[in-house]
Amino acid sequence: MCGIFGYVGTDLDAAGLVLRALKQLEYRGYDSWGVAVAHDRRVVLQKQTGKIGEATAALPPSTVGLGHTRWATHGGVTQPNAHPHVDCAGRLALVHNGIVANYRELRDPLTRSGHRFRSDTDTEVITHVLEACLAQAPDGPEQLLKATIAAFRQLKGLNAIAVLDVRTGQIAAAKSGSPLIVGWGEGATMLASDYSALLDHTRRVTFLDDGQAVLVTRGSGRLFDVETGCELAPEIAEIPWDRAATELAGYPDYMTKEIHEQPATLRRIAATSRHHARQLAALIGQARDVFVIGCGTAGHAALAGQYLLARIAGHRVTFATASEFQYLQDFVTRGSLVVALSQSGETIDVIDAVRAARGRGASIAAVVNVEGSTLWRFADHAVPLMAGPERCVLSTKTFAAKLAILMLTAYELARQGDVGCACIINAADEIERLLAGDRRDLIRRIADEISTRDHLFVIGRGPSYPLALETALKVKEVSYVHAEGFAGGELKHGVIALIEPGTPCLVLAPRDETHDDILAGAMQVKARGDMLIGVSPEPHEAFDYHIAVADLGPATAIVNAVPGQVLGYYLALLRGHDPDKPRNLAKSVTVK
Ligand code: AGP
Repeated sequence: MCGIFGYVGTDLDAAGLVLRALKQLEYRGYDSWGVAVAHDRRVVLQKQTGKIGEATAALPPSTVGLGHTRWATHGGVTQPNAHPHVDCAGRLALVHNGIVANYRELRDPLTRSGHRFRSDTDTEVITHVLEACLAQAPDGPEQLLKATIAAFRQLKGLNAIAVLDVRTGQIAAAKSGSPLIVGWGEGATMLASDYSALLDHTRRVTFLDDGQAVLVTRGSGRLFDVETGCELAPEIAEIPWDRAATELAGYPDYMTKEIHEQPATLRRIAATSRHHARQLAALIGQARDVFVIGCGTAGHAALAGQYLLARIAGHRVTFATASEFQYLQDFVTRGSLVVALSQSGETIDVIDAVRAARGRGASIAAVVNVEGSTLWRFADHAVPLMAGPERCVLSTKTFAAKLAILMLTAYELARQGDVGCACIINAADEIERLLAGDRRDLIRRIADEISTRDHLFVIGRGPSYPLALETALKVKEVSYVHAEGFAGGELKHGVIALIEPGTPCLVLAPRDETHDDILAGAMQVKARGDMLIGVSPEPHEAFDYHIAVADLGPATAIVNAVPGQVLGYYLALLRGHDPDKPRNLAKSVTVK
């Protein structure tokens, strides 16, 4: 969702640096953007709706700049609503991630006292609250910081704010909920909502905790507690990825790159993640009850984890969609373990769920791709996904990584870690073959045939049920073809009414205990004129198309996600959509 980048340093091209950093944040999803610099003690702004694209900075030289990519929540996608927002005196330029729950209460007295509002956003209210606080704060090097803290204390909701003061050339920021990271560069200090914006400058960072504020000046950044106002010693961490890992490396887009990175990700997990899986297995084994949660693709991985742990280790865990988990929390007690899955580690529904669970005494284990993220730091035990940066809005390689970690954990629980590693390597080999050969071309031909259809149905049973949901999600979010995944057994209970001659239905039919029943269901839709696409080790008379996937036991689930990824990708291209940035979606969903 929204992105923030601020720079205070020696380079006079602060505007260019901010714009380049905002481009690194594009993958998060946004609909307008803006940059402010301090020039001659004035705020100079460049704001626009739409994508940054080839835009260049059209701002005067300055060593201080602050920028933002906005994903609209309050107020439409318009130029005045884009951030930064400037106060009445033209001294402050402010950017914001989150939602100010009490913005109406704050705005009315400000309007009465003469503040002029130029946008429909909740954010602009903060700018004027801060302007009022600045008038109350004593002059001096900490004036901006004190005013920022005073303003931030008045906000309700989960927010991150950053404000540039043209009079002092400082940037102050504070956060609760939304992420903020300080980057320690050579002669420059930066502030970003996501560390991919910092990688051109530094890998040395400090993650702000909720309730912390920072004052960024040239070559320094001082940390403070919002509640007490006391100064804190910053903890420095090293980002585990470099810029090269975020480049396209010759691929046409990130979706293709990340689909092709799955074999390497799986081999990395098999080679290095056993001790993490063993520790997670021990926690699961000791817990009184275990809940596995996530949203979207991570939720599908969590549901797959429920099946994997049951089948491989005979262990019962309960799956819940993270946003629904609050309604099940009566069963969470001291002795419960919540295993939260998330690529970004910033998904607000996941963060809220684990906060509430901890409040009830549960321990939290997190399986996360972004080390240092909010979830990563919150968890009692964090397991890295080891997938490297995922920049396409669609999760692909991190889905494979989550399944692999959960599978390895299940095998560790069953004291068969070696078998688990072998399974993951087999899955890596099979995905490599699938992506390199005729099967990819076959999926392209299928996409050609169905690209003008309105619907796609996907069915699977048992461990393939979460795969059916995931396949449908991949197709619909990138191609905008309506796709629905169903438990195979549910067809006759209503869904079959939707089947019309020619409707494509993708059938996941691995050689396991679901095989005969899922094919029986497939025959029923075939009898009503469906076009069947079978994903299975062997062909079947009912299949119009057969995508062969080797029988790899439980690891088949990892491979069976790939046809849906590739199908979604080709459908997106055929229908003229950017596979990396589907409309309305954001890579990390930080608002409710
Ligand atoms: C994946 O393709 C989706 N765009 C989305 O469902 C995603 O998986 C979900 O928002 C959860 O994100 P997280 O893994 O960062 O928590």
